[in-house]
Amino acid sequence: MMVANFKMNLNQVEILEYIQLIRTNPYYKNAIYCPSFVYLPYFVQYGIPVGVQNISPFEKGAYTGEISASQVKSIGASFVIIGHSERRNIFHESNEEIYLKIKEALKNNLKIILCIGEKEEENREDILKKQLKECLKDLPLENIIIAYEPVWAIGTGRVMEEEEIRKACFYIKETLKINMPVLYGGSVNENNINDLSMIKEVDGFLVGGASIHPEVFLKMIEVAVTV
Ligand code: PGA
Repeated sequence: MMVANFKMNLNQVEILEYIQLIRTNPYYKNAIYCPSFVYLPYFVQYGIPVGVQNISPFEKGAYTGEISASQVKSIGASFVIIGHSERRNIFHESNEEIYLKIKEALKNNLKIILCIGEKEEENREDILKKQLKECLKDLPLENIIIAYEPVWAIGTGRVMEEEEIRKACFYIKETLKINMPVLYGGSVNENNINDLSMIKEVDGFLVGGASIHPEVFLKMIEVAVTV
């Protein structure tokens, strides 16, 4: 499974060019694209699998600037990234708020990509266990995918060692007691995706920087699905 997190990148013209370009290669259907909210209809219009990068923890009402899970669902998105480290660190999102967002997403039948991961100075297993416990509590896990992203590897060009990624993803599956999909994210690109795809415990990738280049991302999808 491949997920593109465009973050706050690409303008309208670039998005339309991106869509045109990926549609020339059938591999594009093997990924989920998460653009800024305003571009969702373009992806829906072409039947491209699409998700969002965030939702509101609230159902509806007087929350200026927020976008709800039901609004996202009604426009045709099927996935939502929740708890990305940029939201945790820049926008001070807590595990409790993330839990509320996951609940809203589940109520609206969205599939959730829950991001977890430690900072460089933190103890990995302690942080992962705490994030999983506090974000998921006793929620059903069927519609949840975990994205393991060590914070120091995001957007830095520094990828975690393969053995460490394997251990971390194994730990997540073991902690949740089910063999759920676990993606790796953090500086995945066209040069390292082949080796990373060999890791048995990794079920796919959440790609930021490299995903905004359509030719590069298409190559990465092809590698991920064929290795
Ligand atoms: P990156 O971002 O691929 O640019 O490291 C990954 C992410 O933020 O999900």
